[in-house]
Parts: sequence; structure tokens; C-alpha cells
Amino acid sequence: MELDIKLIDDNGKRLDGRSAEELRKIKIEAGVLHRADGSCYLEWGGNKVLAAVYGPREAIPRHTQNPLRAIVNARYNMAAFSVEDRKRPGPDRRSREISKVISEALEKIILTEQFPRSAIDVNIEVLDAEAGTRCAGLTAAGVALADAGIPMNDIPVACAAGKIAGQIVIDLGKEEDNFGDADLPVAISPRTDEILLLQMDGHLTVEEFNKALDLAIKGCHVASEIQKKAILDKYQSVKEAE
Ligand code: CDP
Repeated sequence: MELDIKLIDDNGKRLDGRSAEELRKIKIEAGVLHRADGSCYLEWGGNKVLAAVYGPREAIPRHTQNPLRAIVNARYNMAAFSVEDRKRPGPDRRSREISKVISEALEKIILTEQFPRSAIDVNIEVLDAEAGTRCAGLTAAGVALADAGIPMNDIPVACAAGKIAGQIVIDLGKEEDNFGDADLPVAISPRTDEILLLQMDGHLTVEEFNKALDLAIKGCHVASEIQKKAILDKYQSVKEAE
């Protein structure tokens, strides 16, 4: 596509003033919903996401039950008002794909064998979208699962890296996602760096791919610290209220 916006200026700064390895601002709050077993509100740049976890509870309808483990149903949804052109409400191809990859990522880290015949429902609602919503949604889901006390090997976290104007950068913003060359969302278990989700949109050489993967993992570690602080803050305030 012919570009008339310069994604990186002569000083190496991106459109929003970030350097190549700088993340957008992340804010996380755990336990924001009263009815859910666990919940989280997260802002990541211009993204605003709510995650609510219910379960483990009996999987219904019964034919969906697995006698050996719990099933994890992540449901990613974008509010009609979350994007510039009103989004038609309800599931579409894109939200089904994102729900599926997030469910599979979470299944790898939740100790599902402890809850046979059960379901763990993870609702992710995108209220405001500005690129990188699957990473923001998965990161919020990780906090909501921890808040719900669901046994996991670790708290899952995600971050993307990509290529814009020929350079590998972390955490693409909206114009970078639209006019850039590649986007690589990655979710990991931060304790082991095991990869839970990896997708790629666009083209990267092997060398660029390796660099982008390293950068995305670095970003995951930054987001992971903010997740942990959000969970500690919630339990600190509960303890103080007692
Ligand atoms: O959000 P994420 O980067 O994980 O997924 P994407 O499919 O690469 O979408 C990139 C961005 O496009 C979203 O974050 C939204 O800002 C925008 N988008 C939109 O404006 N309208 C849609 N129906 C879907 C996405």
C-alpha cells in the first residue's frame, strides 16, 4: 500500500513518540466486578478491556463435559462502540478465531485435570479498541483467572511485536497495525517462557522473526510485573479492610 504517513521519524520515534522497544502505557485493576468469581479491568494504550471469569462449575450442556478435565471457554467480544465504524454486534469470524486461540492458550496453563466435567468461562469484552486487543484481552484474562483462584502453573500474559517502516518494534499501535508490514502477537508463561499463543500477520525473515519474538517476550515480562502488582494490590486492600 502507498504510504503517506511516516511510521518512524528521523529521530527514530514512532507516531506516538515511543521508541522501538517501548510499550504503550498499561494499567490493570483486579476484582472490579462484583458478581464474577474473578475479574479484571485493563487499559493498554487506547485499549480498554474487561475480563470476567466464572467457574469451575458443572459444564452444561452435559455432552460438552470431559470426564478427565475442565473445558476452558474463552469468549472474546468487541463492543459495537469499541471501533471507529460501528461493529455489528455478536460473534464474527475474527472474534471466533480470537476466542479459540485464547481458549487454547489458557488450557495450557490452567490445571484443568483438577476439575473433571467442569467448565471455566472466561468472558473478554473489548470496550475500546486500538490494536493489540487479543494480547490485552489475554493479559486481562490472566489476572481475572488468578483473581478467581483458578489453579494455574503461572499467570499467562501476552504482548505483540511487529515490523513497521522496515524496523522491528514492540506493541504496534493502530496506524502501525494498519500500515505496518507484520504483527506477531505472543502469549507466554512468564516463569518458563513457554509459548502459549503465537500468530503472525504479514511477512518476516527468520532473523526478523527471532528478533520480534524476543522483543514480544520482553514485553510480556513487563506486562507480567503489572499483572502481579494488580493482584497484590487487590489482596492488600482486602486485608486492610479486615
Ligand atoms: O486487536 P488485535 O490486534 O488483536 O486484532 P486485529 O484483528 O489485528 O485488529 C487490529 C485492530 O483493528 C483492532 O485492535 C481494532 O482497533 C481494529 N478493528 C476495527 O477497527 N474494526 C474491527 N471490526 C476489528 C478490528
